This record gives sequence, C-alpha cells and structure tokens, in this order.
Amino acid sequence: MTIEDRAARLRVLEKEASACINCRLHQGRTTVVFGDGAPNADLMFIGEGPGQHEDLQGVPFVGRSGQLLSTLLERVGLSRPEVYIANVVKCRPPGNRDPRQDEIDACKGYLVEQIKLIDPAVVVTLGNFSTKLLLKTQVGITRMRGQAYPWWGRHVVPTFHPAAALRNGPRVVEEMVSDLRLATQVIEQRTLPVEDAPGEARPPEQIGLFQ
Ligand code: URA
Repeated sequence: MTIEDRAARLRVLEKEASACINCRLHQGRTTVVFGDGAPNADLMFIGEGPGQHEDLQGVPFVGRSGQLLSTLLERVGLSRPEVYIANVVKCRPPGNRDPRQDEIDACKGYLVEQIKLIDPAVVVTLGNFSTKLLLKTQVGITRMRGQAYPWWGRHVVPTFHPAAALRNGPRVVEEMVSDLRLATQVIEQRTLPVEDAPGEARPPEQIGLFQ
C-alpha cells in the first residue's frame, strides 16, 4: 500500500473514531485521541489512554510522559515524526483512572486497524495495558520487558510506561532506553524471517487479532 493510501485510510478510520460512542468514555471526552505520526512508520508505540493534555489537544503523549518519550526517542536516534503513537483507548478515562476491560474491548478494533494499516516492523508497548492486550499475558511489565516477542509477522518489544519512569527515576529511564535500542536493532534485522509465537499460528483476521 502506498503511504498516501495508508494516510487516507487512517483518516477515514479517525473520522469514524471521532464519532464513536461504543463505550462510556465518550461521555467525558473533549477530543478522541486517535493517533499521531508517520502512516508508514517502522516503529509504533502503544500507550494506555489519553490524559488531560491529550484530551484537550487531540494528540497522544503531549504531556509530561510525552516529553519524556520524545527525549527517549532522541537518545536512540529517532524523532517523533518518524514513528507512530497510539493508545489502547482513544478517549480519556475520567480522572486518569485505568481503562476498564469493556472499554478496552470496545476500542480495540481501532487499534487492530491502525496496526494493520501502518504495518510496523516493531510495536513497542508502553506499560502493562498494551503489553497484556497484545501478548495475551498476565505477566507484569517488569518481567516482560527487555525482550522482543515475535508477533504476527512482526515483533512486540514491551517497555515501561513513561509515567513509571517519571515516578521511579533514572534506573527505569535507562531500562527504557535499552528497550528502545533493542527495538531499533530488531528493525535493522527485519529482513530475517519472523516466526509467530508457538500456538498462535492462526491468521490475525480469524481470531480478531487480540481475542
Ligand atoms: N499516557 C498514555 O498512556 N497515553 C497518552 O497519550 C498520554 C499519557
């Protein structure tokens, strides 16, 4: 698919999402925060859900977590315009509470389409929510991070959510930099064949990707 086609199809999907009332989160939102970045990015980030600044501006990761994410990208030689950033839920949970399972379920179709259209070589999941959703695991992020997991013909590299680094300081920041370095190395090697995780050999369409 050309970059123009991807961009056009993402715009159609964003328009659809902007009118979404599939879960209770639409009641409190100012803006649907669909996603931001290059439609053909090799690297896609998935956070949790918009906070106050994101809800007001309609752009993911523009608050303090976003500033840290930009700094981390620079540390591994990347910039925001060359990656794509989205969230598990596209509307702000009230008071920044955790998204609930029914809200995640109601929203995941948009994320599935975003991943399919952008078709990144590597998805970096930021924190527990996106990691658990994609890798269907209950194992926490501290144990999951530091590795690349084959996932539907690409790789998932889980890392901490930037908010955890803001809370916990330089050690977490350095672990995130190490995870992002791993992500860039996987991208450089992507000509190697990628085998899907054992037991997950059915095509994404058949299982709704995240079921
Ligand atoms: N935290 C997230 O998970 N996503 C955002 O967009 C902002 C903060």
